Amino acid sequence: MEKVIDFINVNRDRYLDELKGLLAIPSISALPEHRDDVKRCADWCGAEMRRVGLQNVRLIETPGFPVVYGDWLGAKGAPTILFYGHYDVQPVDPLNLWESPPFEATIRDGELYARGSADDKGQVFMHLKAIEAHLKQNGRLPVNIKVMLEGEEEVGSEHLDDFIRAHKADLGADVVVISDSAMFARGVPSICYGLRGLVYFQIDLRGSGTDLHSGIFGGAVANPAFVLAQMIAQMKDRGGRVKIPGFYDDVRPLQDAERQAWTSLPFNEKKYKKDFGIPKLFGESGYSTLERTWARPTLEVNGLLSGFTGAGAKTVLPAVAMAKISMRLVPDQDPNTIAALFEAYVTSIAPKTVELKVTRMHGGKPWMASFDNRFVQAAGRAIEKGFGQKPVFTREGGSIPVVSTFQEELGLPSVLFGVGLPDENAHAPNEKLDISNFHNGIIASAILYQEIAGVGEP
Ligand code: BES
Ligand code: ZN
Repeated sequence: MEKVIDFINVNRDRYLDELKGLLAIPSISALPEHRDDVKRCADWCGAEMRRVGLQNVRLIETPGFPVVYGDWLGAKGAPTILFYGHYDVQPVDPLNLWESPPFEATIRDGELYARGSADDKGQVFMHLKAIEAHLKQNGRLPVNIKVMLEGEEEVGSEHLDDFIRAHKADLGADVVVISDSAMFARGVPSICYGLRGLVYFQIDLRGSGTDLHSGIFGGAVANPAFVLAQMIAQMKDRGGRVKIPGFYDDVRPLQDAERQAWTSLPFNEKKYKKDFGIPKLFGESGYSTLERTWARPTLEVNGLLSGFTGAGAKTVLPAVAMAKISMRLVPDQDPNTIAALFEAYVTSIAPKTVELKVTRMHGGKPWMASFDNRFVQAAGRAIEKGFGQKPVFTREGGSIPVVSTFQEELGLPSVLFGVGLPDENAHAPNEKLDISNFHNGIIASAILYQEIAGVGEP
């Protein structure tokens, strides 16, 4: 292992230069005008996988963006890791809030700023470099590894479940490794054992055939912006509880032991408010901030659009109003069940004065694993060696839809070892990756393969 770690230390600067090349590709899966960029990014990843020494590298087409696959299967008798990550990124708007261009990776104060630096290109690259270090130094890996990168994670992994079902035979492994999450805090590495699920909707209301003069028509015609606000106001009560009937029916209650364990995590509410500019916290009563984001479901308005929003004042009664609404789910809520409950509720609270259109968008199931399995223990040892500190065990509020599919379709446990940080600005302007976490992450990943190689039968 020493040789491998030396190699990683010597190549520190090269890794950053190469990663900048990956971060320069605007692979925004949500925006049609970036289709070619997403494909170019898949090509880049394929070429890089060949460069690091992976074999059988190919782009496998799906009805959406290709899955980039490569493997190294020369460790006879050793376990097989299925590594999953994504090469697509979120849109960059509002662009004017970026301090450096989102696709020109820039180093400031030990952080690498670029869209995708943390979520997830930097973390994918970290594993490719760990693989490279083994292969270049030893000519082999201690484990078998199948690398699978998708280009549609940020838009809900729509085609990935079918892909996995179709390629079941080729994706056999012992464990899935994913680095697409964050450490609990700076200096506090972590292993994540739970993710929330998601259902996402767009609601469109129409109150008239065209915008109307608000003096001539106001008071006689329903205003869809107002109606939408009233409908949204009926979705949650003032105590933060979602009012959709049946919404909480399948929520698995938090266990006392888990609540207890979380109270010993170094979470500082004052600092949290200050870091994120929050005047006062809000959430479901009876739960702490960590419990609210990790173990309780929620309903959020992601965006609203209606009427005149320019400078100055324009008197108008808007014809339409639109809201993007999502629900984060926890075990054992099912996205299809919740979607049906949401549609029925929205329909029931919409007045006859507007035309209502409810469109379901992407989503995914929640996931939770036990963390006493041997692979998680192996990851704990690797992280301790790479970061000089034992990891804490966390759940996360975000979603990675495919994790539950790996469990259900392939029967595989997942180990989520992320090196992002809570203030990494994922999905927001000025996304960044801490360079020393990236570097230690490469070392920890290289050690992780070694540790997994030593994991025996249960
Ligand atoms: N990397 C995130 C998921 C994540 C965020 C995990 C925070 C752990 C902590 C991922 O790329 C992501 O943003 N996923 C989407 C999924 C959605 C589009 C189905 C999300 O959570 O919004
Ligand atoms: Zn991600």
